[in-house]
Amino acid sequence: MHNRETLHQKSGKADFELIYDLEDPREYFNVLGQFGYCIPQHGYRVFSALIEARRKAGSEGFGNGRPRVVDVCCSYGVNGALLKYETSLDELYARYRSEELANLSSEELAEVDAAFYRERRREAAPEVVGVDVASNAVSYGVRSGVLDAGFAENLEENEPTEALARAVSSADLLTVTGGVGYISERTFERLIDCAVEGSGGRVPWVAAFALRWVSFERISEVLSGYGLVTEKLDGHTFTQRRFTGDVEREYVLEELAEMDVDSTGKEDTGWYHADFYLARPANEANVPLEMLLAL
Ligand SMILES: C[S@@+](CC[C@H](N)C(=O)[O-])C[C@H]1O[C@@H](n2cnc3c(N)ncnc32)[C@H](O)[C@@H]1O
Repeated sequence: MHNRETLHQKSGKADFELIYDLEDPREYFNVLGQFGYCIPQHGYRVFSALIEARRKAGSEGFGNGRPRVVDVCCSYGVNGALLKYETSLDELYARYRSEELANLSSEELAEVDAAFYRERRREAAPEVVGVDVASNAVSYGVRSGVLDAGFAENLEENEPTEALARAVSSADLLTVTGGVGYISERTFERLIDCAVEGSGGRVPWVAAFALRWVSFERISEVLSGYGLVTEKLDGHTFTQRRFTGDVEREYVLEELAEMDVDSTGKEDTGWYHADFYLARPANEANVPLEMLLAL
């Protein structure tokens, strides 16, 4: 098992860090689009199914209010955009890579984006609070409206600020795409501490995608301390992106082989695959995960 830093150093993986904290998301979409990065679209399907199931559960679910989603490693707010607005990842790729928007300044783009999203608001849009270390990206997410609130904080290293704690209080759902490995159980612990504050004892659900070779064990151990039971979705993995080249591919295939994970038909086709984990309070885990998601 490896964290991302190790992967970077050992595999010569493209340095995506460079695109994580720019003034606007155009380069993020441009670069990740070249590798078919698609986990946020899978995230949308899964997270919206969970939100819908919880909505249907009425007072035993999220209650009557607008569900509060905390998207961890939110970047420019892609998951927020998909959950709150009638759009798709493909449409966002086309938008941010279009010639029409290429010459706008970041400020102009934020204004145009705010208008674009305003017109597409989903009727049942959740409230989305974003957390990421990348301050420019978070700021863009807030300015364009895809994040209702955003915090550039590193909870691996620091306690949350009071403002973050307030915004996360009583959260219903924590979501993560492309972030496990960058964040460990420490970030989850700090966020759940904030979420249960003022919630009358309710603990949020945690919905996370993690690459198959990144361990979720320590995270689920910590979540169990809050009474959350973690399940890994059986029989289904999700494509994340294509490998950047042979070096990365060989490295990942070797690592998976060492872990006794069969990459046939998955990573050996040239794609990273992620598992999906859902953690729920034991007394709310009556509907099987597979049925909740109906994939
Ligand atoms: C692969 S991107 C995923 C972004 C987004 N969730 C998506 O799927 O498009 C990883 C993100 O993790 C963020 N990140 C790295 N370390 C972090 C930390 N300690 N706390 C919060 N975010 C972090 C990076 O800034 C980056 O935005």
